[in-house]
Amino acid sequence: MAEPIKIGLLGMGVVGTGVLENLAENQEKLTNQIGRSLTVTKAFVRPSKEKERLAEKFDLTLVYEVEEILQDSEIAIVIETMGTIEPAKAYISASLKAGKHVVTANKDLLATHGTELIELAAENQVNLYYEASVAGGIPILRTLATSFAGDNISKVLGIVNGTTNFMLTKMVQEQRTYQDTLDEATALGFAESDPTNDVDGIDAAYKMVILSKFAFGMTITMDQMTIRGIRGLSAEDVAVAGKLGYAVKLIGSAIKINDSIHTEVGPVLVPKNHPLAAVQNEYNAVFVESSGIGESMYYGPGAGGRPTGTSIVADLAAIAQEIENGTTGRPFSPYQQELKLTPKDQIINSYFFSLEMPDHSGQFLKLAEIFTKLDAGFEQVSQAKGDGEKARVVIITHPISETTYAEIQNQIQLKTKFKFISSMKVMEEK
Ligand code: HSE
Repeated sequence: MAEPIKIGLLGMGVVGTGVLENLAENQEKLTNQIGRSLTVTKAFVRPSKEKERLAEKFDLTLVYEVEEILQDSEIAIVIETMGTIEPAKAYISASLKAGKHVVTANKDLLATHGTELIELAAENQVNLYYEASVAGGIPILRTLATSFAGDNISKVLGIVNGTTNFMLTKMVQEQRTYQDTLDEATALGFAESDPTNDVDGIDAAYKMVILSKFAFGMTITMDQMTIRGIRGLSAEDVAVAGKLGYAVKLIGSAIKINDSIHTEVGPVLVPKNHPLAAVQNEYNAVFVESSGIGESMYYGPGAGGRPTGTSIVADLAAIAQEIENGTTGRPFSPYQQELKLTPKDQIINSYFFSLEMPDHSGQFLKLAEIFTKLDAGFEQVSQAKGDGEKARVVIITHPISETTYAEIQNQIQLKTKFKFISSMKVMEEK
């Protein structure tokens, strides 16, 4: 039997431990497929009794200086599971420069410095794989890079943040508050170290940057996207949407319009008969529309040690196979095109508006005038009693452009004293 492929682990928290458990459980199968075994020899951690116990269990050496991994010439692959930008970026860069392959789950880093790191990997003829960075346990990136190689993708819609999906599910099913559900998601370990990234849509946006690259070959930056989270979402609007036949979900969308793309994150009304509406709790799903396959959806856990660890081990196996074949150095997603963003007047959608207005005659006419002048038709209108003398009005429009949508908001503010409660995109019926 050939020598084992030696691996260094940076960080041994929930995900790092998941990797070790998966490797231990599947060592025989992996060796059978690759012809060599995969062994984590060293883990870089902060000193603790718990880490010492894990080191003994998985037969590895703990190191407290990262150089002991970066300068170990026997280590061929480095796994980074520390998260956030620094020092992960410095450690990954140093590993690539030292000729080591890198596997990471770090979406923040790939979405913001991916181009630089991918170039660094290519310069050093090594692999940089990051299947676990998007939707944890769902094997979506390799699927897009390989199984869709001969297909033309037009749309990628994702529920790619488990925390917010968990919150929205519990708020509706158990009538619980925003804060209460966020506290539970944090306690269960789904939320980021800074949950602002979850609730404000940042975490989902990082994942959409990566998905856009794999689906369309285009590298979009965070500041080129509209990013809205679920903070301040009214429980009443979620309930009204439910009565109208929709589930409110935080959706990341990347859509190809002609030869340009539009990528964004925000709360969306999803028709209850759409497969994405059935995705509950902390689960993730990525829905793809393409000319060859048609519609397909990839569903599974978006976080957690074992699921995320499984994606990391799949990357390890792929690298090990390439080491054996002498084919290392290709990017994870070789598809590359110049970025072209869709102009706002070509982005067409139906919208949900929720407003509060005085409950007396003539008020609704003001609203109808604004919409009519902008050629925006009503598809559904509903009115309920609001606070005091107020009426709560909800409108779903026929499809309008993003430019018209912005103008409607502008005109409501200029020409009325109505209180703007919320507006959201409405996904088309299946
Ligand atoms: N905070 C993330 C989520 C973890 O809730 O989906 C996985 O990236």
